[in-house]
Amino acid sequence: MSTIPSSTAYAVHGPVAVVTLNNPPVNGLGHALRSGIVAALDQALADPQVQAIVLTGSARAFSGGADVREFGTPKAGQEPTLPNVIRALDASTKPVVAAIAGVCLGGGLELALGCHYRVAQPDASLGLPEVKLGLLPGAGGTQRLPRLIGLEAALNMIVSGQPAPAKAFAGTPLVHALIEGDLVEGAVAYAAQVAARGEPLPRARDRKVQQPNADAFLQFARNTVAAASKPFPAPLQCVEAVAASLKPFDEGLQTERTLFQALMQTPESRALRHVFQAERAAAKVPGLPEGTPLRPIARVGVIGAGTMGGGITMNFLNAGIPVVLLEMKQEALDRGLATIRKNYENSMKKGKLTPEQVEQRMGLITPTLDYAAFADADLVIEAVFEEMGVKEAVFRQLDAVAKPGAILASNTSYLDIDRIATFTQRPQDVLGLHFFSPANVMRLLEIVRGAQTASDVLATSLALAKQIKKVAVVSGVCDGFIGNRMLARYGAAAQGLINAGALPQQIDGALQKFGLAMGPFRMGDLAGLDIGWATRKRKAAEAGIAMKPIVADKLCEAGRFGQKTGAGWYRYEAGNRTPLPDSVTEQLIAEYRAAHGITPRKIGDEEIVERCIFALVNEGARILEEGIAARASDIDLVYLNGYGFPLHRGGPMLYADTVGLPQVVRSLRRFAAEPGADASWQPAPLLVRLAEEGRSFN
Ligand SMILES: NC(=O)c1ccc[n+]([C@@H]2O[C@H](COP(=O)([O-])OP(=O)(O)OC[C@H]3O[C@@H](n4cnc5c(N)ncnc54)[C@H](O)[C@@H]3O)[C@@H](O)[C@H]2O)c1
Repeated sequence: MSTIPSSTAYAVHGPVAVVTLNNPPVNGLGHALRSGIVAALDQALADPQVQAIVLTGSARAFSGGADVREFGTPKAGQEPTLPNVIRALDASTKPVVAAIAGVCLGGGLELALGCHYRVAQPDASLGLPEVKLGLLPGAGGTQRLPRLIGLEAALNMIVSGQPAPAKAFAGTPLVHALIEGDLVEGAVAYAAQVAARGEPLPRARDRKVQQPNADAFLQFARNTVAAASKPFPAPLQCVEAVAASLKPFDEGLQTERTLFQALMQTPESRALRHVFQAERAAAKVPGLPEGTPLRPIARVGVIGAGTMGGGITMNFLNAGIPVVLLEMKQEALDRGLATIRKNYENSMKKGKLTPEQVEQRMGLITPTLDYAAFADADLVIEAVFEEMGVKEAVFRQLDAVAKPGAILASNTSYLDIDRIATFTQRPQDVLGLHFFSPANVMRLLEIVRGAQTASDVLATSLALAKQIKKVAVVSGVCDGFIGNRMLARYGAAAQGLINAGALPQQIDGALQKFGLAMGPFRMGDLAGLDIGWATRKRKAAEAGIAMKPIVADKLCEAGRFGQKTGAGWYRYEAGNRTPLPDSVTEQLIAEYRAAHGITPRKIGDEEIVERCIFALVNEGARILEEGIAARASDIDLVYLNGYGFPLHRGGPMLYADTVGLPQVVRSLRRFAAEPGADASWQPAPLLVRLAEEGRSFN
C-alpha cells in the first residue's frame, strides 16, 4: 500500500479498485498526482482479485486540469507526463471507468477521455478551456473528443473553450451513463457489470471520426475562426489540431503535440497565462493575513449621482445590494436616477434584462438629499467633484452620521486619501475605491490603501470587489495612484510627440495598431479636454505661477472640449462619433511649434509606440520600487482592465519583459539625453538594476 503517494487514495470494493484523486482544491494534475495515478493503476493491474478500475475525484472536481502552479517549472515536464499517464490508462488490460462529478476540464477531461468508460453526474461540467490560455488541449483531447462526439461538436467545444454539462452528452460515447445517486457506488456497480460482460475495451483511439464533407466543413471553420480570433493564434491552431483527427490516431497525436508546443512559445499565450496568474496573485496583499475577518456589507451609500456615482450605484444594484443615493439638489438626483434607468432600459432593449428586473433594480435605490439616510449604511462611497474642499465637507458630514464600523470610501482619481482620512475621527475606516468610467462596465477597481486603513476594511473591500465582479488591485497613496499616475507620463509622451512633429491621428493610429482600444487623443476627446485644462489652471494658480499653455489648452480656449462640443483634437459630425482629422488643430499645433522655435521632424510609428509605452513602463517601475504596487503583474491588470491595453500584450510590464529590459533602458537613456528632455525619461533605478542583473519584472 505504501507505494502509492497520498495524492491518490486506493481502495478495493469486491472486484473493483477505486482510485480517488486527492489534490485539493480541484485535483490539478501536478507531478505528485500524475505519479499517484500510475502507481495506483499498476497496483490494480497486479492484483488478481481486481477486474475493473474506477478513477474518480471529489464532489467538487474530477480534475480542473493542469496544475497552474507548475506552469513553466521543470515539474511540468517531469515523468510521468500527462500524455504518458493517459497512455497507461488507455493501454490498461482491465477496464477503467472515469467517474465524474464537479469540474472535469482541460487535462482533467483528457484524462477521462483516456479511460475506457465514463460515467458522470448530470451536472458535472465537461470542457477543454485551453484556448483561453492561448493553447490547445495537448494531451490527446483534440484527437479523442472528435472520435467520441463528432468533428463539429468537438471543434465548437475546443475552439470556444466553453464547458457543457455531462447530461448534454448522454447517449454519446463521451458519457456512457449518468449517475444520479452516489457516484462511486454507481460507478463501482457499472465497472463490475462491464468486467462481467468481458467485452473488448472501447478505446477512443480505435474509433473513426464521423463527419460528412469534412474538408468543406473544415475550410468553413478555418475562415470563420481566423476572422473572429485576431490577433490570437490559438483558435485557428485548435481547428488544425482537430482536423488532424481525420488522420490515423498516432499521427494526429503527433500533430497535436507539435502545434501545442509551438503555441506554448507564442507571446500571446504567455500574455494570457500571465493574466490568469496575475488575477490570482492580485488577491494576495502583502501584510494582509489570509482569513482576516470581514465586515458585513448589506447596505451601501453613494454620494453624487453624476457620471461615476450612477455607474457605481449600478454595480451594487446588479448584485442585489440596496443603495442610498445622495445628491445636493433634487434636480441632480432626478437626472442621475433617469440616467441609471435609461441604462437599464437599454439593456432591456437588447434582451439582457426583463422589465421586472429593471424595476427590481431601480427599487433597490433610496434617493435622498439628507445625510441622515446614511445612518445604517455599511459602506459609503463618495463620487462628488474632484476638489479637496468639496471632499472635506462631504467626509465631515459623513463622519457625523455614519454608524461605527461603516467603511467610508472616496472615488477620487488623484487626491490624497490620507489627507481625506483626517477629515474624520476614524481614519482606519477610510480608503479609496477608484472605479473607472463607465463604472458599471469597466472591470477595474483600484483599492487605495491609506496609511491607517484597517486590515479588515481592506479585506472587506477585496471581497466586495469580487462580489460585484471587479478585478481589484490594491494601490498605495500617491498622485493618481497606479493607473492615472502612469497615464500622466503617457500623456506627456504623446504631447511631446505632437510638439516634435507628429499629428494626433498618426499617434492614435500607431498606438491602435499596437493594439490599444483607443489612442490618447481620441481618449481625450471622449473624456473631455476641459478636465485637464481646469486641473492645469488650478495647479498653476496654487503654485502662484503663470500658466504656459500647451496645445490642449489652446484647443480649450477655442471652446473645443472634445466630443461633447463637436470638436477637440478631432472634429465630429452631428450624431457621429467618428474622429475626423481637423485643419484647425493642425494650425494650432503649427503655431505652437513656431512660437517655441521647433522645426517639426518626421516621426515613425515605431518611435511613437516606444515613447508612449516605455513612458508607462518607466513610471510603472517607479511605482513598483516605491511599493505603491505590490507586484508588476498588478500594474498590468490595471492597464488591461482600466485603460484598454491590449490583452495579447499582457500589460505594459510584461510587454517590457518581452522586449527585454536592457532594450527598454537603452531607449529611455536615448530619450533622456535629448536636448531639453524631461527628467522623467531617466530610467527608474529598479529598471536599470533588473536589466543589469538580466532579470525581468515578471
Ligand atoms: N469621470 C471619470 O472618468 C472618473 C473616473 C474615475 C474617478 N472619477 C472621480 O469621481 C468623482 C466624480 O466624478 P464624475 O465624473 O462622476 O463627476 P460628475 O460631475 O459627473 O458628478 C459629480 C456629482 O456630484 C454631485 N455633487 C457635487 N458635490 C456634492 C456634494 N457636496 N454632495 C452631494 N453631491 C455632490 C454633483 O451634483 C454631480 O452630480 C471625482 O472625484 C472624479 O475624480 C471620475
